[in-house]
Amino acid sequence: MTPRVALLGLHGFGRVHLDGLLRLAATGAVRVAGLADPRPPEPDALDRVRALPGGADVPVLADAAALLEQVRPDVTIVSTPIHTHLPLARLALAAGSHLFLEKPPTASMEQFRGLSAEVAAAGRVCQVGFQSFGSHALAHAARLAADGAIGRVRGIGVHGAWVRERSYFTRAAWAGRMELDGVPVTDGALTNAFAHATASALRVAGVTDDADVEVELERYRVASPESDDTAAARLTVDGVPIVVAVTLCATEHRHPLIVVHGEQGRLELEYTTDTLTGRTADGAAVTGPPGRAALLDNLVAHLADPAVPLLAPLASCAPFMHLLEAVRRDGPARPLPPSAVTEVDGRPVVIGADETMRRCAEELALFSELGPARGGRVPVTGGR
Ligand SMILES: NC(=O)c1ccc[n+]([C@@H]2O[C@H](COP(=O)([O-])OP(=O)(O)OC[C@H]3O[C@@H](n4cnc5c(N)ncnc54)[C@H](O)[C@@H]3O)[C@@H](O)[C@H]2O)c1
Repeated sequence: MTPRVALLGLHGFGRVHLDGLLRLAATGAVRVAGLADPRPPEPDALDRVRALPGGADVPVLADAAALLEQVRPDVTIVSTPIHTHLPLARLALAAGSHLFLEKPPTASMEQFRGLSAEVAAAGRVCQVGFQSFGSHALAHAARLAADGAIGRVRGIGVHGAWVRERSYFTRAAWAGRMELDGVPVTDGALTNAFAHATASALRVAGVTDDADVEVELERYRVASPESDDTAAARLTVDGVPIVVAVTLCATEHRHPLIVVHGEQGRLELEYTTDTLTGRTADGAAVTGPPGRAALLDNLVAHLADPAVPLLAPLASCAPFMHLLEAVRRDGPARPLPPSAVTEVDGRPVVIGADETMRRCAEELALFSELGPARGGRVPVTGGR
């Protein structure tokens, strides 16, 4: 039977989901059950839905609960603000639906554990939007690391430097917030924009769902109202450090890089472009297989044949949720001193951020542990 898929959240990243849903619907693999968002869809998006066979009858409602009650979809994609994930996921489960939940799946570990239990009790499945989990290059990197192709893994460093306009932090009431109206949101560079960085590094490291993850944090804000936009985290699992150093206030946009430091080799994975390079212990150059499987396609394939494993099931997010929970408990990020920030084209830029993030990933160090930079200054110093 062709699964009927509903989409909650039509703007922002919801546009990407709508594209994926319409692409699959055009092949006949799914049917569009309905769409919901308090903000009406863009006219071109609505036109594309109406142009589908039977598209004229697809309900497009402002209220997600009313839509779920009316159409009782087989699958519900939840691409809405973080703090709405849990209540909307519960409504979808109550309507008998499987879930495709955007990342981060929930705003706290308690919510994550609760939702995991509810998904299992309902006999449904939940895919989470960590799209790099479908990457063939990422899977290859994880295999090479596990097989000892670069010797013992000393640690993994990830650096990311992106440019976000001030409007990114004002686009919605929840943007850059730790809490809203007393409920956790836990937005931020570490937990949202660069969530893929940590989740992908944990997967390359082969960290299991029930691993003990120790977290150290240094979180700062420049443009964000409350949460971090410039931060470093070190997750330690079985003595192996994973350092993630990221900023949304860079001079220019660069692809984030995961560096796997082996005792006898090195892997470098750009998880946003599925580009894998490096060198193994025997001196051979590494290249990664291109491409990635789309998570909605994988979920549909899994529902048709449970022997097809889900690529990003809810349980696989448990290691990442240790980071999110540590950030939530850490509270609002510290403002960066004005001396560390400059203005470029009307937006704040952390001085030397790109180099600082790169050094953290190379040295597996937090900001406060970096020594004086050669030929430049380390703009972010001092822990909490
Ligand atoms: N996988 C990725 O690479 C990726 C990238 C960006 C965002 N995201 C995730 O997608 C989600 C949405 O982020 P965004 O940046 O698009 O947010 P946004 O605030 O820009 O857009 C969210 C949309 O959801 C709608 N919405 C709010 N409450 C709703 C409800 N109760 N029912 C239906 N619709 C509702 C809003 O009106 C808005 O159109 C977040 O979880 C975010 O972390 C994932």
